[in-house]
Amino acid sequence: MDKVEEVKQNALQEIEQANDVATLEAIKVKYFGKKGELTALLKMMGTLSAEEKPKFGAIVNSAKEEVSEVLNKKMDAFAKAEMDKKLQTEKIDVTLPGSKIIRGSKHPLTRVIEEIEDLFVSMGYDVVAGPELETDEYCFERLNLPKGHPARDMQDSFYITPEYLLRTQTSAVQARAMMANKEKTPLRIIVPGKTYRREDDATHSHQFNQVEGLVVDKNISFADLKGTLEIFMKHMLGEDTKLRFRPSYFPFTEPSYEVDVSCFKCGGKGCNLCKHTGWIELLGAGIVHPNVLSMNGYDPNEYSGFAFGTGLDRLAMFKYGITDIRLLYENDVRFLKQFDRKDD
Ligand code: FA5
Repeated sequence: MDKVEEVKQNALQEIEQANDVATLEAIKVKYFGKKGELTALLKMMGTLSAEEKPKFGAIVNSAKEEVSEVLNKKMDAFAKAEMDKKLQTEKIDVTLPGSKIIRGSKHPLTRVIEEIEDLFVSMGYDVVAGPELETDEYCFERLNLPKGHPARDMQDSFYITPEYLLRTQTSAVQARAMMANKEKTPLRIIVPGKTYRREDDATHSHQFNQVEGLVVDKNISFADLKGTLEIFMKHMLGEDTKLRFRPSYFPFTEPSYEVDVSCFKCGGKGCNLCKHTGWIELLGAGIVHPNVLSMNGYDPNEYSGFAFGTGLDRLAMFKYGITDIRLLYENDVRFLKQFDRKDD
């Protein structure tokens, strides 16, 4: 009996002095393991008499329970302390301000596109898109440019197969929009988008952006085209901007025009930007050719329309004084940062 008491007191003392879980684990093995001291006491029962056995057994079991309870309590206390410590060190204060992420800025082309979209939407236009991988049929044939037409040479094209190419002009969407408008409701669309030609220099890129405009309805005239382009260019380049229409040729419009704007740098007096002419060439435009109307589901005796197309890169370059088109595509942060605006 004394031995049981002694083992128990030793165990309790060791538990009392233990400072970590590992020590407690070792104590557990020392007393409760296969060769543990309390286990060994139970094994002693074999040497006792029949009357002594139950008494001794009860004392050893009660000692085991007591030690085990104290041990488990201390184990739990350590586990809780460990958890509290973890919670304390790993806690996240969601009310703290976040770490600052350096804000990007809108690309100058995005700015120009958004400005144009806002203007035309305010005038009742829809903004529509078309595929960049286009068929020869929509890019050329339905625009009055059959295979072998000499004007195709003006647009050096990336053909994927004889029937598919990277579109050279957003005009391809003219035919798509006309074909899709079965009810012949007034068609007023702009088409901003990427276009591709085999060209590369300071003012030409193999990939560039155009915005197309198309209106088809009854009684559309040159006056509508002129008024619309005036609003467009004044909005983009300033109220004093003047327009000049020069006769030109596009197979899908008749008559066709190159539209120049008065140089906004020198106001038309002549400077290096406008090559001392006072004018900058910015748009192709015209009255939709009757062939294009009829090829795309419209009766030219009933309907008429106007169309225009401008290079967005060139517009952005003039608007922001960018001298090399390639800067728009190099993703140089030092360049792009200059278009940061607080009001975005
Ligand atoms: C056209 O592409 C006609 N589809 C425009 C049009 C639409 C006329 C509707 C009539 C009616 P053009 O090939 O001139 O026209 O190109 C229009 C503009 O795209 C040019 O003025 C120029 O600003 C831009 N552009 C053409 N090629 C490139 C290029 N490689 N890099 C950058 N801009 C280009």
